[in-house]
Amino acid sequence: MLYLNKHAIQQMDQQMIQTAVEQAYRLVLNKNYTMPDRMHVTDHQNTLLFMPCFSENFFAAKLVWVFPEARQHGQPAVNGLVVLSDAVSGHALAIMDGAAITAQRTGAVGGLAVKLLTPKTVTTAGVLGAGVQGLSQTRYLLFNRNIQTLYLYDLNQEAAKAMRRNIKQEFMDVDVVITDDPDQLVEASRVIIAAGMALFDLTAAAAIYQGALEKNIGQLLDG
Ligand SMILES: NC(=O)c1ccc[n+]([C@@H]2O[C@H](COP(=O)([O-])OP(=O)(O)OC[C@H]3O[C@@H](n4cnc5c(N)ncnc54)[C@H](O)[C@@H]3O)[C@@H](O)[C@H]2O)c1
Repeated sequence: MLYLNKHAIQQMDQQMIQTAVEQAYRLVLNKNYTMPDRMHVTDHQNTLLFMPCFSENFFAAKLVWVFPEARQHGQPAVNGLVVLSDAVSGHALAIMDGAAITAQRTGAVGGLAVKLLTPKTVTTAGVLGAGVQGLSQTRYLLFNRNIQTLYLYDLNQEAAKAMRRNIKQEFMDVDVVITDDPDQLVEASRVIIAAGMALFDLTAAAAIYQGALEKNIGQLLDG
């Protein structure tokens, strides 16, 4: 059985992951799967989510736990595991770091939205929130579009600086500008990604920049 840890998942080819996400959407459209509603178990502010799913060839179960206060202990807010098995023999094929898979998957969903909904000519973008998703969404944005200037806003300037370092390591030609003014970010950016812990009010953004792609990755616990 394969064990894919965070590092291995972070090294995966972005095109492969984005294509897999596209295929997953087709599977959903074709209704070619069996999946119950996500199960939630809560303990005070913490939540455990159980997400099993069968398809023709594989079945998987994803276990995710959301601990909003985890950052105070140096841990990400979202953690988990995914187990993938063969749907014919039942053989367990892989166990994976669920937080890393979730981060890549959600980033790739955003990347697909960027690919399908934004003009190929966009060169400016802004990211509100520089955590796990801020980085993942940005990696897939930069994978799909030739962004020259990327604006970053986070309540925590250190998070914004850490994300700028990460981005510059991989995409050295992108000019990454940290701002403490979200309105300036919205005005200067053709694509806006909201990746904070709260839902940002992007109505104001739309009013400021007609035609901007508004993409709020939203709350994991919604719905
Ligand atoms: N991590 C995932 O894989 C994942 C998947 C699906 C959805 N989500 C959702 O994405 C959102 C972000 O999750 P994350 O994992 O990136 O969290 P995170 O804790 O890693 O990062 C959140 C960042 O946003 C910043 N922030 C919070 N409120 C802000 C505000 N009002 N203005 C500016 N910055 C703000 C924080 O300082 C932090 O740096 C959450 O709503 C989460 O439920 C996350």
